[in-house]
Amino acid sequence: MQPLDEQRILLTGVAGGIGKPVTNLLLKLGAQVIGVDIANHDSVRDLLKHPKFTYYQIDLAEAENIEKLMEILAKSAPDSLVALAGIVVSGELVLQSSSDVERVINLNLTSQINLSKSILSLWLEKNIKGNIVFVSSWVDHVPWPGITPYAASKAGLVAVCRGIAREYARDGIRANLISPGIVDVGMAAKQWREEPDYKARASRAIPLGRLQQPEEVAEGIAFLLSSQSQYMTGSNLLIDGGASLYPLDPEEVDKR
Ligand SMILES: NC(=O)c1ccc[n+]([C@@H]2O[C@H](COP(=O)([O-])OP(=O)(O)OC[C@H]3O[C@@H](n4cnc5c(N)ncnc54)[C@H](O)[C@@H]3O)[C@@H](O)[C@H]2O)c1
Repeated sequence: MQPLDEQRILLTGVAGGIGKPVTNLLLKLGAQVIGVDIANHDSVRDLLKHPKFTYYQIDLAEAENIEKLMEILAKSAPDSLVALAGIVVSGELVLQSSSDVERVINLNLTSQINLSKSILSLWLEKNIKGNIVFVSSWVDHVPWPGITPYAASKAGLVAVCRGIAREYARDGIRANLISPGIVDVGMAAKQWREEPDYKARASRAIPLGRLQQPEEVAEGIAFLLSSQSQYMTGSNLLIDGGASLYPLDPEEVDKR
């Protein structure tokens, strides 16, 4: 992987299942990482030992928190943003409450727009040719049952990224997305290990036949942050083991 020695990277969702391996790789490649998450400092205790890691505990769903963060960072502005924080609420659509729907759209889409707006203003003011990596999902174009608001938020994020890529290319600013598959962290990992039915269904859904390792997501992000991707903007890097190729079986979709 290409070193990222000169980079100061703002990374949200740093305390999560994908966030930690991403942080470890970026630090290993020589970057400075400014981590942001709603989780407390204890949840990133190991990372805090690293001299190039700093941490802010912030609820990104509140727009004023993003503005305050940017004021703090203005003196020494990050030159890249990896927008990883996201949530999913799963369940049949009619059973999801309106507050669940709002929470998902608010964090996965609205807060990403607010965060991008703030960092773009900073970059334009300081003439920084910044680079944004958004994190979408293979379901941004696949109607996988039970996560409709989440899929909609990720599809919306594709539009946000392409809009920013088009609008700010003239300022030397790039924006791309990475779309992971079903990653071996959190719920998916637990279900894969403990529920034979889930494992059978997920194996059928992933042509390469295994869950995605979070390090494989991290490598894609590092590539999008590096000069190896310098001619890419507005792209969606799909790394999903072929999951989005899965022909959804109507019987399976209709099973509730
Ligand atoms: N896990 C997967 O299979 C998978 C697949 C495709 C895409 N993704 C995407 O990757 C990203 C990371 O997923 P993950 O699996 O690591 O999830 P995760 O739940 O382990 O991590 C998400 C992180 O976001 C943080 N967060 C939640 N609400 C927040 C808020 N209001 N403000 C600040 N931080 C907040 C959480 O504390 C957590 O540390 C998400 O955007 C997700 O949609 C995940």
